[in-house]
Amino acid sequence: MGSKEHWEKVYATKASDAVSWYAPHLETSLNFIHLATDDRNAAVIDIGGGESTLVDDLLTRGYNDISVLDISRIAIDVARERLGKQADRVHWYCADIMQATLPKNYFHVWHDRAVFHFLTEERQRVIYVKQVMRSVKQGGHVIISTFGPEGPEKCSGLEVVRYDSEHLHGQFGKTFQLIDSSTELHKTPTGTTQQFLYCFCRME
Ligand SMILES: C[S@@+](CC[C@H](N)C(=O)[O-])C[C@H]1O[C@@H](n2cnc3c(N)ncnc32)[C@H](O)[C@@H]1O
Repeated sequence: MGSKEHWEKVYATKASDAVSWYAPHLETSLNFIHLATDDRNAAVIDIGGGESTLVDDLLTRGYNDISVLDISRIAIDVARERLGKQADRVHWYCADIMQATLPKNYFHVWHDRAVFHFLTEERQRVIYVKQVMRSVKQGGHVIISTFGPEGPEKCSGLEVVRYDSEHLHGQFGKTFQLIDSSTELHKTPTGTTQQFLYCFCRME
């Protein structure tokens, strides 16, 4: 998985809409978040949110308890700047998800698009799942998106693990009920396509 230096360099050298994972709006993510809850007071966290517009769209839709975590200070600063005064309504964590201290039993929705797939070692995935189990409320929802079986082998120049729904759900185990999954073809800013997989789970 990439170091903080890797990600700071990416965001220092590329515009928000030039990175391969850029999409103007994360529609599939938003749909799953709506499926998870229509309670606008539900606590939602975006893991590795980067400079994505998911936080903007959640604010527009009236969510009142949004957190964004990313390892890159530059990415967080860009997102905050873009939001202006609205940024004060968001909890920002500049942290490595492997070491972050998040509130316990707090989040109703955990969203991760294109972070979990960087965890190429079993021990990293175990730590990640422990983080989810610690900070997501019982009955909360977990939305994880990775490259799918036909997706690229690398993201941002880093090796990734590609998943189908069974394989991805299997990483989380029996505490997580797989409610739905889908694949989508993401069109990158350079016009190529990448297969993403989404898993939508409920934590029992
Ligand atoms: C491929 S980008 C995806 C960004 C965003 N989720 C999206 O879909 O547009 C991966 C993001 O995860 C962040 N990241 C990578 N490793 C991380 C880690 N260990 N802890 C927290 N954030 C991390 C990067 O800084 C980057 O913003």
